[in-house]
Amino acid sequence: MPEIHLPVCLDRTVELLAPAIVGREHPIIVDGTLGLAGHSFELLSRFPHLTIIGIDRDADAIAHAAKRLEPFHGRVQIYRDSYDNLGKVLDQFGTRTVDGILLDLGVSSMQLDSVERGFSYSQESALDMRMDRSQGLTAAEVLATYSEADLTRILRQYGEERFAPRIAKAIVAERSKEPISKSSMLVELIKRVIPAPARRTGGNPAKRTFQALRIEVNGELDILDRSLPIALDRLAVGGRMVVLSFHSLEDRIVKEHFARVTVRKDLPGLPVELPGQEQKFALIFNGSEKASEEEMLVNPRAKSVRIRAITRVAA
Ligand SMILES: C[S@@+](CC[C@H](N)C(=O)[O-])C[C@H]1O[C@@H](n2cnc3c(N)ncnc32)[C@H](O)[C@@H]1O
Repeated sequence: MPEIHLPVCLDRTVELLAPAIVGREHPIIVDGTLGLAGHSFELLSRFPHLTIIGIDRDADAIAHAAKRLEPFHGRVQIYRDSYDNLGKVLDQFGTRTVDGILLDLGVSSMQLDSVERGFSYSQESALDMRMDRSQGLTAAEVLATYSEADLTRILRQYGEERFAPRIAKAIVAERSKEPISKSSMLVELIKRVIPAPARRTGGNPAKRTFQALRIEVNGELDILDRSLPIALDRLAVGGRMVVLSFHSLEDRIVKEHFARVTVRKDLPGLPVELPGQEQKFALIFNGSEKASEEEMLVNPRAKSVRIRAITRVAA
């Protein structure tokens, strides 16, 4: 279990969700990426009448969160599922809509720190990287089975790796001799094939490849894309949704979905909105926000966060 876990943008997240909680009799917030329950713990502490529906696809995270949230017994319902199954989860819970939804995307510090999970390029482990270890291909299986073109694509798109073609080529050559099953094998291969000047700058050169594999293994972008219309549909009037993204592609998906539902559909110049064309959602602020400089200093994960927030203004 990690000793230190700092939830990213904790105060700002609570502040953004608060208007959807305060003044409501029985408010419900969905924490779709419960993780170590840092955000949920704070919300439950600050708002004694709040109920949290917590979702995580990782069994270890669920166990940890359940323990941490024990003091709030009766106000928390936890589901081991993927947040794109939000509709099913809410049906099971017995509600059509909720007052708030939080997504704090990506990987938790516990996942990164658990050597056997294979997320970390700095510790030796089997290349697994599945958040839900009961489903899907491991990172080692992706490395063993994907074509060179597909490996290049995921390294380039999800890892923003300049040397994607070189690395993909080397993976295909290496796997014909021996399966790339351990993190150190992949790290060594990357160090070998990227040019020496690039090895000396920008931190561990394996970081981008590991990120790309993790996003691919867990289908992270597809799930996000699929889930946003479902989440928005389940938001009550006055409800709020806050998303913390850590990758430009994640943030773009959120930006595009939020833009689509907030764009005005009435004709310019008309004094009233046409029936059926009323605006159902509004951005809580334009664009995205970053973490404060102070937070970035104490929490490296906060460096890449982009926050977006939306509210439902009509049924
Ligand atoms: C950054 S952590 C969340 C940290 C949490 N907000 C806290 O303060 O402790 C992200 C969590 O989301 C989970 N996760 C990622 N993708 C998921 C998905 N599609 N469905 C459910 N949980 C997911 C991961 O397993 C991980 O525990």
